[in-house]
Amino acid sequence: MQPLIVVNFKTYATAMGQKAVDLAQAMERASKDHVRMIAVVSAFDLHAVKQAAPSLEVWSQHLDPVGKGSFTGWLQPINAIERGAQGTIINHAEHKVDIEHVQQLMQQLPDEFPMCACAADVDEAHQLAELGPTFIAVEPPELIGGDISVTTADPAIVSETVNAVRAINPHVRVLCGAGVKDGKDVKTAVELGAHGVLLASGVTKASDVDAVLADLVAGLGN
Ligand code: G3P
Repeated sequence: MQPLIVVNFKTYATAMGQKAVDLAQAMERASKDHVRMIAVVSAFDLHAVKQAAPSLEVWSQHLDPVGKGSFTGWLQPINAIERGAQGTIINHAEHKVDIEHVQQLMQQLPDEFPMCACAADVDEAHQLAELGPTFIAVEPPELIGGDISVTTADPAIVSETVNAVRAINPHVRVLCGAGVKDGKDVKTAVELGAHGVLLASGVTKASDVDAVLADLVAGLGN
């Protein structure tokens, strides 16, 4: 199974609207067969990004477990899928939800629709693993947006999450994130047992996006 490089566009000015399209196309260009590259974009940009970068996997940054009807302002999953979402993250450190939200969303999503539940620590990862999401991304909140990668600052949280999740449900794959910047960080993440990385600012704030993406991919070999 290919390792993942998941880039969260958040609401960075460099990754919204036309810039989201440009960044997604850069990711499409950087894609290689041995890597699964995923762009996690604003709901507003799902359709345009999917149209402009059709071969790139595109996820939503959040979804709500609501049906069609009286749900003003919520992110309705089927609508998101119809607009191009091929997966979603949930419970990101910047958009926390309760465990029932994750559980109900999972029940509502089609089988095979990947969900990556984010966890701040091993305990939260443990709790989420019991629900059996496709992926769990462990991201220490204090390292998010910083210059030191979780793989350097706290490698133990990565390996301990991998072990904890594996003990509960070996089908759930673990990603790690926070401060991941380059191919060396990606390589270390995989050596620690992660199935890939979730990152944002290393790409969205890069002065040479193509070079950063190429380096991230190179971290996973050829
Ligand atoms: O979702 C990824 C994110 O929270 C990590 O952000 O900027 O530390 O790569 P960053």
